[in-house]
Amino acid sequence: MKYLAYKNVKNRDELFVENVAISEIAAAVGTPFYCYSKKTLIENYQSFVDAFEYAKIADYKICYAIKANYNLHLVEILSSFGAGIDAVSAGEVFRAIKAKIDPKKIVFAGVGKTREEIDFALRNGVEEFSVESIAEMYLLNEVACSLNKKAKFSLRVNPNVDAKTIDKISTGRKGDKFGVDIEKAEEVYSQAAKLPGLQVYGIAMHIGSQITSIDPFKAAFAKLRDLCLTLRSNGHKIESLDFGGGIGILYKNENTLLLNDYAVLIKEVTKDLNVKITIAPGRAMVGNAGLLATKVIFLKETGVKNFAIIDAAMNDLMRPGLYGSYHEVLPVKKVIGTKVIYDLAGPVCESTDILAQSRELISPKPDDLLVFCSAGAYGSSMSNEYNCRPMIPEVLVDGDKFSVIRRRPSFEEMLHLEV
Ligand SMILES: Cc1ncc(COP(=O)(O)O)c(C=O)c1O
Repeated sequence: MKYLAYKNVKNRDELFVENVAISEIAAAVGTPFYCYSKKTLIENYQSFVDAFEYAKIADYKICYAIKANYNLHLVEILSSFGAGIDAVSAGEVFRAIKAKIDPKKIVFAGVGKTREEIDFALRNGVEEFSVESIAEMYLLNEVACSLNKKAKFSLRVNPNVDAKTIDKISTGRKGDKFGVDIEKAEEVYSQAAKLPGLQVYGIAMHIGSQITSIDPFKAAFAKLRDLCLTLRSNGHKIESLDFGGGIGILYKNENTLLLNDYAVLIKEVTKDLNVKITIAPGRAMVGNAGLLATKVIFLKETGVKNFAIIDAAMNDLMRPGLYGSYHEVLPVKKVIGTKVIYDLAGPVCESTDILAQSRELISPKPDDLLVFCSAGAYGSSMSNEYNCRPMIPEVLVDGDKFSVIRRRPSFEEMLHLEV
């Protein structure tokens, strides 16, 4: 996080988000909690705008992939800067509209939209659909006809490009469940063109997440361009290309790609095509704008390993357990002492509930505060109540103020839907 830094307070280095001490938030809301920097979020959005300006791309929309973090307050901030939304469920469409996103700027993507979800989106003014199967194309046509509407149809193609990222978040290889084989696209478009409820509109693609090299994008976008030319020569009006998201962020020591290079690549691929451009970044928008703050509960030595048992767990931050992902861990207050290697384990009754392995902590003790960095994306949005643990609060820092943008529910409130 750009605005996460140590400041010297009473001769001790203490971690601040913008101008607010994390210890101050912890005292007010308790741990664990997610904390976001408004300034970082806005700068992340602006860096996409700047890159597109640098590449001299005019007709574009940045559709934030709301799955990365759906908190209404964060989405409202992006909305106020002109963002659109990439949604993959009716619930996400609903939230986007609640956050004042213009439905015309919502792209409804996702591999398994139901009839009810498509109906909901169309009734609420969503026009653009990124369709992931032939069966879905027919369903979309049927629902659109029943509402006397024409849905803007883009086929999400699977280009068979390896994004060279974590296997579990790669989506653009043959055999991944997403999209339709690019080789079948011509046939699908010829069917789509005959359907009265569809307006053939564009082509969509998303090859995976946490991509740190420009090369997979180069390979995939070249295929998108070729397909656009082929479909146009077949008489289809392709007005829009959706390049998806997937831009990686810094978790450890990755060489992340430069947004200017990414935008220039899109410009190169589209310069003579006269198309509208959509991108759908999620992680790159919110990932490094958020952190997870936690507290040490106990220290436990097993003879072969040292565990620091912390109060955040896999139900709060699922990425390490799910993908083996790495988050940097920092102490909120720096101390001088002995370095010891610990695994940081949550209280959940699963052996996979280890949030960080083999980390150096300096003379840790119960009640010490720690933060997991770059936890703004796919952190809170993937969290759940496993082991009857309440969803944790989310806090937004804005300069020298902070506000709770989602509070911790009481145990009683956790029962409410079961009555
Ligand atoms: C269709 C689509 N677009 C965009 C994204 C956002 O990806 P990222 O957060 O890596 O930018 C995803 C993520 O899975 C996706 O499935």
